[in-house]
Amino acid sequence: MTILQVTVLFLVFTLAYTRSRRSGPVASQTLPSPGSFRTFTPSDLLDFNGTNGKGIYIAVRGRVFDVSTSKNFYGPGGPYENFAGRDATRGLALQSFDKEVLTKDLNGPLDDIKDLTRDELGNLESWEERFLLKYPVVGELVSNDDFELQQQTQVSA
Ligand code: HEM
Repeated sequence: MTILQVTVLFLVFTLAYTRSRRSGPVASQTLPSPGSFRTFTPSDLLDFNGTNGKGIYIAVRGRVFDVSTSKNFYGPGGPYENFAGRDATRGLALQSFDKEVLTKDLNGPLDDIKDLTRDELGNLESWEERFLLKYPVVGELVSNDDFELQQQTQVSA
């Protein structure tokens, strides 16, 4: 083998290795697999509270995260089980996992969090950053009304 052939082989392997690293675990963890992104209403989301083997999802500011890998946190009996299958936005902003901070009316509008302070919004952003690095996004959360509107628009389109 000539020096040129060895060099070309080396470059090809280096390129292939770098590419495989780039599309490795981090990318596949944060991006949803094609076709798996869906729209959830708050009552759809409730189904993913870890009690029926369907996985555990939580919503943060409209994004739905699959947190099934952290069953110890969010699964039944875990410290943050109240967030499972729910919109955790306000709870994370207020640093509270009490049931009282969860949106009560699942059929009403989503929490618009307009009353939050700068510090609370800062908390929320830190949690979001952590979740984006750690969990796949599997969909978006919309209110019942917005969901129906979306359906109507799709039918008439
Ligand atoms: C008594 C005070 C608390 C202690 C000692 C505590 C401790 C911990 C510890 C050790 C972890 C694991 C961190 C890791 O391994 O990455 C954790 C995770 C977490 N904590 Fe707390 N915590 C406390 C209060 C709270 C409160 C008030 C909230 C309300 C929002 C909260 C929300 C969370 C969440 C959501 C996670 C999981 C994050 C993830 O999915 O990676 N914690 N906590």
